[in-house]
Amino acid sequence: MATNASRPLEGRHILLGITGSIAAYKAAMLCRLLKREGAEVQVVMTALAKQFITPLTMATLSRRPILVEFFDPENGQWNSHVSLGEWADLMLIAPATANTLAKMTAGVADNLLLTTYLSARCPVMVAPAMDLDMYAHYTTQRNLKELKEHGVGIIEPGSGELASGLEGKGRMAEPDEIVEQLKAHFAEKKKPLTGKHFVVTAGPTIEPIDPVRFISNHSSGKMGYAIAETLADKGARVTLVSGRTALPTPAGVERVDVLTAEEMYRATVAAFEEADGAVMCAAVADYTPAEVATEKLKKSDADLQIPLKRTRDIAAELGRTKGQKILVGFAMETQNEAANATQKLTKKNFDFIVLNSLREAGAGFRGDTNRVTLIDSTSQEELPLLTKREVAERIAQKIEQLLH
Ligand code: PMT
Repeated sequence: MATNASRPLEGRHILLGITGSIAAYKAAMLCRLLKREGAEVQVVMTALAKQFITPLTMATLSRRPILVEFFDPENGQWNSHVSLGEWADLMLIAPATANTLAKMTAGVADNLLLTTYLSARCPVMVAPAMDLDMYAHYTTQRNLKELKEHGVGIIEPGSGELASGLEGKGRMAEPDEIVEQLKAHFAEKKKPLTGKHFVVTAGPTIEPIDPVRFISNHSSGKMGYAIAETLADKGARVTLVSGRTALPTPAGVERVDVLTAEEMYRATVAAFEEADGAVMCAAVADYTPAEVATEKLKKSDADLQIPLKRTRDIAAELGRTKGQKILVGFAMETQNEAANATQKLTKKNFDFIVLNSLREAGAGFRGDTNRVTLIDSTSQEELPLLTKREVAERIAQKIEQLLH
């Protein structure tokens, strides 16, 4: 649908689910604000929610009859959860109780709100509301984590005075904050990589020799983190598989910390299964000690030889299984740069490869700049010295071109 950029909720169909929490009183203001933004609101309540806020209030504010039961006992009219799910551009459950969150996670379908959730094809967001101990309970946190992993947007509750009289986290977010998040959600839709999921590897791997020593390299993670941040800013879901770095996680990025090449292999291959593509920026060890000593190796006067074995090549494995997915590689070279990079492009089945050379000033490890050449099967584009964020932008643009 055509939308007004300054009013992203204009004409949107919002299914507002209300569950049995004292915070249900805020649903009245929420509904009002949504209507004021031009949204169509259809309210679905649980039976318990009716004890906290009346159907009459919600029907008046939404200007639609509210729905609670599977059918109207008076005339047998069926309330189709499938049609509701199809009608909605977004389902928002606010307040969402611990009970409803648990049922959503488990796939329980014992009321109209839950059956609608199970059949909704649209994005779903929840605004939890409960007492602080219920919110902190491991089951609630586990349920929220699981819902998030399955794409449900979580609108974090705030901290403050709770209905129980206790102070802490669990208060449903204020209606105006919720509306802002919905607006941001629909504005996001216009971002070019919305709906895409990318895996980015970054940083060094660390290959232990003994409990004290290891083999590693100079990667700081800056280049990979800049790519993760740029892809997320463009609306992509990003899983950042990161070796040890000192960098903060970019906003909106899911980070998986790993240490060794083997750990990076497992995390990246698993994340790639569900992804639309990957950018392989990590500096992965090609060799790792054949045995890791359990105790610190004792120094002696003789020289020491440490047998090394090959690590698994993550990029090559993704290249083998990628199908139509996009795979971008990096090549860190010190000689015969273009020839070596082109060889890796073919061997690992990359869509394109980003060549950086240690012979170029301002390029490669640790600094905030890089000088790269983007190489694909038909062309080479040499970029000037840029910040790593600018390089990331150019890589993201090339990915966008490939996607379209
Ligand atoms: O982290 P910074 O300090 O910002 O530095 C950035 C960087 C120099 C690390 C980065 O720009 C870079 O060049 N990363 C790739 C370094 C590298 O290992 O290149 P390679 O030519 O050895 O590997 C080729 C490709 O295969 C790379 O995409 C690499 O991630 C991947 N690979 C390599 C070995 C392996 N076992 N698994 C892999 O996936």
